[in-house]
Amino acid sequence: MEKKIEQIKASFLSDIQKVKSFQEFESLRVSYLGKKGQIQGLYQSLKDADPSERPRLGKEINEIRNLIEAKLQEVRSKFEQKKTSKKLDTTLPGRMPFIGRKHPLTQILDEMKRFFLNLGFSVADGPEVETDFYNFGALNFPENHPARDMQDTLFISQDILLRTHTSPVQIRTMMKQSPPVRIIAPGRVYRRDTPDASHSPFFHQVEGLFVDKGISFGDLKAVIQEFAKYMFGKEIHVRFRPSFFPFTEPSMEYDFNCPFCKGKGCKVCKYTGWVEISGAGMVHPNVFKAVGYDPEIYTGYAFGMGVDRIAMLKYDIDDIRLFFENDLRFLEQF
Ligand code: DAH
Repeated sequence: MEKKIEQIKASFLSDIQKVKSFQEFESLRVSYLGKKGQIQGLYQSLKDADPSERPRLGKEINEIRNLIEAKLQEVRSKFEQKKTSKKLDTTLPGRMPFIGRKHPLTQILDEMKRFFLNLGFSVADGPEVETDFYNFGALNFPENHPARDMQDTLFISQDILLRTHTSPVQIRTMMKQSPPVRIIAPGRVYRRDTPDASHSPFFHQVEGLFVDKGISFGDLKAVIQEFAKYMFGKEIHVRFRPSFFPFTEPSMEYDFNCPFCKGKGCKVCKYTGWVEISGAGMVHPNVFKAVGYDPEIYTGYAFGMGVDRIAMLKYDIDDIRLFFENDLRFLEQF
């Protein structure tokens, strides 16, 4: 009997060292102190012991039970401490959830849309995969125009291509609708360019078109000038240069004076003081004929705008590729 008591004590002391979880602790406790546990077993076997020995043995069993109880209490408090340390600490400052933002190009596009919607323009849309007819033919590009060249255009088949500009939306809109037409068409366009700081095989344009009776070149200049002020402030100057596009006559290109050096000349404007934005002009009579408008009755202006270019100027970004890399360290700044 005494041996048995010693054995139980020894095995308990070694078992308790190995306990790693609260579950293990519980099963150990039950196996020693439970109703059918080993200590209870010792009390029961007292009745087989010599009656004169019983008080002494009983005391020994009590002692070992107390020891086990104390040890268990000690270990339990360790587990309980662990539990409480996981508890919610309501005094900690809250963690800011990650908040997404609009892409800088989307922000610029939203701003551009706001300007034109206020002037009564509505937003039109067209496909990025176009046919030769909408991208070139109906826009009065001659059969052998260099812009159709494989160098610039990403062809899908002989007749199907990725649009090289948003101007085909002019054609699609006018074919669906009779004048007056006053739309902008924002969207992505594609060119076969090798990417570098100022070139990307895709970029964004906003096309504009206003057709009605009596629309003049002066209206066109005014809207571009007002747009420049809206985006860059009253200080901005706009420069118009004669140019050529098959779908406008007369045609021009327009520049904003460099918002960084205020026209004095810097790296951004390549020391010219001006940054080229895009082209514009009066809708060519052949374009009106292609869509079934009478060029004797209607006149109209059209313009393009480089969205990425405008965003780069506005946010002081010197590499167009940053817009498309989706690096959060860049995007989080807007
Ligand atoms: N589509 C031309 C381009 O991508 C830009 C342009 C020029 C648009 C003149 C126009 C315009 O609407 O009238 O280079």
